[in-house]
Amino acid sequence: MSDSIAITSGKGGVGKTTIAVNLSIAYKKLLNDVLLLDTDLGMANSHVLLGINPDLTLLDVMNGKKNIGDVVFKTNTGVELVSGGAATSELLNLTNNQRYTVLNSIEEYLSDKNNAKLIVDIAAGAEDNSIVFANACNRVVVVIIGEPTSFIDSYALIKAINATSSFKNFSIVVNQTENYQQSIELFKKFEKIAMRFLDVKLHYVGFIEYSKYIKDSIINRKPIILSDPKSDISLRFTKIATEILKTPKNVWGGLSFFNEIKKRA
Ligand SMILES: Nc1ncnc2c1ncn2[C@@H]1O[C@H](COP(=O)(O)OP(=O)(O)O)[C@@H](O)[C@H]1O
Ligand SMILES: [Mg+2]
Repeated sequence: MSDSIAITSGKGGVGKTTIAVNLSIAYKKLLNDVLLLDTDLGMANSHVLLGINPDLTLLDVMNGKKNIGDVVFKTNTGVELVSGGAATSELLNLTNNQRYTVLNSIEEYLSDKNNAKLIVDIAAGAEDNSIVFANACNRVVVVIIGEPTSFIDSYALIKAINATSSFKNFSIVVNQTENYQQSIELFKKFEKIAMRFLDVKLHYVGFIEYSKYIKDSIINRKPIILSDPKSDISLRFTKIATEILKTPKNVWGGLSFFNEIKKRA
């Protein structure tokens, strides 16, 4: 059965896109069909990390100019990408109809694939678009880093997602850390805050250390899992990919990329 994973964060610049891109490639090694959807319309840059420049994007689908099939870019990694394009400010807050269009067109595109993995790069923060697209996914990954602002904003994000859908399961990736031990300490600290006030379950799914190799991979526009697949960091991305799949899926009756409930525009 196809399913979906949202890559979210409270604040920007913590590594969502880096993680979304490397995880997509990790899943592609396990599965036939992996689609990376960039919904971070204000700062869409999944294509930058993948080293491609798609001329058609999700914006062309939302404004009715193109069909979804026209804007799916087949990357040389095998991962398919729907780029977010460069939205002007008035498009940053989508209407409900535009959101339905995104959900319906992705579902339609993947409908003939029976075990596809959809990875959704979500805009940082607890704005409406982020909440709607995160809640539309079966699993939600929250990327945190060891800064108070990341903790506060991630807490607010989880609270907003949970308040909308009652989703309880959240996977936590600790990025830009020193080592495993530090990532566990940060996770426990964050978990303590979240569990004190929210009825949620946080699942530690792994860490990525702060590394020059990640920086280099962005500059070279080549994901590290491709350029150096046997490196510790690449193995960690692969481990994170499998750990996420061990966490329970969230279900609700609301809008979702894959469900039986009809979405109407
Ligand atoms: N583990 C890491 N080590 C070093 N730099 C990182 C790491 N993760 C992300 N970065 C850097 O942080 C910046 C933001 O990463 P990005 O994935 O674009 O974040 P987001 O999508 O959350 O805004 C990029 O310049 C990237 O090189
Ligand atoms: Mg990003």
